[in-house]
Amino acid sequence: MVPPVTFDPKELESKVKAMYRSVAENPHGEFHFEMGRAMAERLGYAPADLDRIPKEAIESFAGVGYYFHLADLKEGETVLDLGSGSGMDTFIAALKVGPGGKVIGVDMTDEQRTKAERLRDRDGFKAWMEEHVLWSTAPTR
Ligand SMILES: C[S@@+](CC[C@H](N)C(=O)[O-])C[C@H]1O[C@@H](n2cnc3c(N)ncnc32)[C@H](O)[C@@H]1O
Repeated sequence: MVPPVTFDPKELESKVKAMYRSVAENPHGEFHFEMGRAMAERLGYAPADLDRIPKEAIESFAGVGYYFHLADLKEGETVLDLGSGSGMDTFIAALKVGPGGKVIGVDMTDEQRTKAERLRDRDGFKAWMEEHVLWSTAPTR
């Protein structure tokens, strides 16, 4: 009989957060995935959009695809970005919805969220962006 696989969800959460803490604080470190602008452009992000958002958010970009063509965001819309990291997609969404729209980034890793908030305030995105923690731990069931 195969023994049941057990794992400690708290330990897993702590390891995932530690990895994403490094993504925020040390984006040029070693990771098992690629990050940064070259990858973003290969995925389909427009260089003209990338030129308009904080470069530090692009350095910590750890996304896996380009989904804005599916979302087809319009000016004035409200966007919820779940797992917003250091905010690259949140900033791009803010460009697309414009000053009459609203973007809410949600991330469980304090360092990711703090970095996105700092860049938001520094680069004048504050008017239409909010960063919230709607939940702080991954669901365990
Ligand atoms: C692949 S990265 C997302 C990249 C991000 N969209 C960007 O533009 O770089 C995944 C992010 O989701 C966050 N995350 C993972 N599980 C989460 C959960 N249950 N609740 C909130 N955030 C979560 C991680 O902290 C990490 O920053």
